[in-house]
Amino acid sequence: MVNKQKITNSKLTFENQFLDIDEKKYLSVSADELLSQHLLITGVTGSGKSSTALTIIERLKKGQQNVIVLDPTGEYQSIPEVHRVVLGDDAFFDISNLSDLQIAQFLNITNKYLLDKLPTAIKSLQIQHNIIGQSGVYRKINRQQSEHDRFLSQLKLSDKYFDLNLLANQLQEEFILPYADERADFTLLGQVYDNATIAQVWSNLNDLKQTLQNEQVQSLLTRSNNSKIVHYDIRYLLRLFITRRASKQSLVVDLSLFSHNKQLNKLIIDILTNLMMSIRENYPQEFPVVVLIDEAHRYLTDITNENQGIFSIVREGRKLGLDLILSTQSPMDVPVELIGQFGSLIIHRINTKQEIQRLMINEDIAGLIATLSVGEAYLKTNQKKSLKRIKSVFSEINHDTSNVSFDL
Ligand SMILES: Nc1ncnc2c1ncn2[C@@H]1O[C@H](COP(=O)(O)OP(=O)(O)OP(=O)(O)O)[C@@H](O)[C@H]1O
Ligand SMILES: [Mg+2]
Repeated sequence: MVNKQKITNSKLTFENQFLDIDEKKYLSVSADELLSQHLLITGVTGSGKSSTALTIIERLKKGQQNVIVLDPTGEYQSIPEVHRVVLGDDAFFDISNLSDLQIAQFLNITNKYLLDKLPTAIKSLQIQHNIIGQSGVYRKINRQQSEHDRFLSQLKLSDKYFDLNLLANQLQEEFILPYADERADFTLLGQVYDNATIAQVWSNLNDLKQTLQNEQVQSLLTRSNNSKIVHYDIRYLLRLFITRRASKQSLVVDLSLFSHNKQLNKLIIDILTNLMMSIRENYPQEFPVVVLIDEAHRYLTDITNENQGIFSIVREGRKLGLDLILSTQSPMDVPVELIGQFGSLIIHRINTKQEIQRLMINEDIAGLIATLSVGEAYLKTNQKKSLKRIKSVFSEINHDTSNVSFDL
């Protein structure tokens, strides 16, 4: 049974990573002290956040800790011995593993009539693919309710796959009614289309058809037809790297193909972080997994439900052994109620008093933080209240190191 209170980072320490500028000696900081209550790295652009994060990741990797990097811009290409996948290229979300709500979010389905019918439309397509075994939509008009019920009961838990491309057409098939006169036969699923409602949702259905044809959406949600490349289901990869102790490989998920689409970016991070939480809940382990989310300002602005994945790791991840390193340009990006959940802070140069106040540190060092040079920072860890002025050691990672292939 996993100890729900705390899953510690073994005995790993950072010995030569953080130079105490005032004492002129390296600090010895245990991974537990730095990471087990999450670490927030903040500082203006170019102040050294990613380099600091990279130094930490390198040390964790040397100590054979499990590390997952969510890389929004493809910056983390240089870490040796990683399994790096590019979402939308050699990795995708298998729709069989997504909830109806997640599918709706990916496809931007917001119309309430379509949202209402989405679960039944997906079930219909699952029947068509897995039980009937034919292409095309599942016709409901004039189908016996009893036959439909039989199909539903035959649908196994594993029969999740369906033809996503047919979703708009199938939704249309769901809007059916019995005849409104004496010809009505209530043993059938329906006899005529509910044309009034279909007309109401017509433009939304057309939008959905467009979305389904969108190349980005296709690349994110469907397995590539190219049999020459290995195309990974991202959930499978996450599960592998969360449930097995790392020997030397770490996972880097490159999200750069979606970097210009803020909404989609947020959604992807939300779904990835939620997946991590649910995998860890379902397959508890004794060892921690460190998750780095760089450039979090891309995902944290405007608090909405979409941020909930990151929120839940910050709030609940610790109990499950998911330790978060979040890097962001301004503390103002992080909702106030979350700041307090970070046990450790690495504060690179920040310019405004307002931003420093947001970090809720007692010492009056605003003036000093604004003068830090690149790579310098104030460090606060979860076990010590006072701040140390440090210089984080610059990572020597060779930027041309190619990826080591993963023997799955
Ligand atoms: N500890 C360090 N020692 C020396 N140089 C450093 C150090 N950290 C960063 N640098 C230099 O500063 C540059 C910018 O650093 P880095 O990319 O880590 O900044 P950042 O805070 O992540 O910026 P952004 O918010 O734009 O991503 C690096 O390319 C590197 O040349
Ligand atoms: Mg950076």
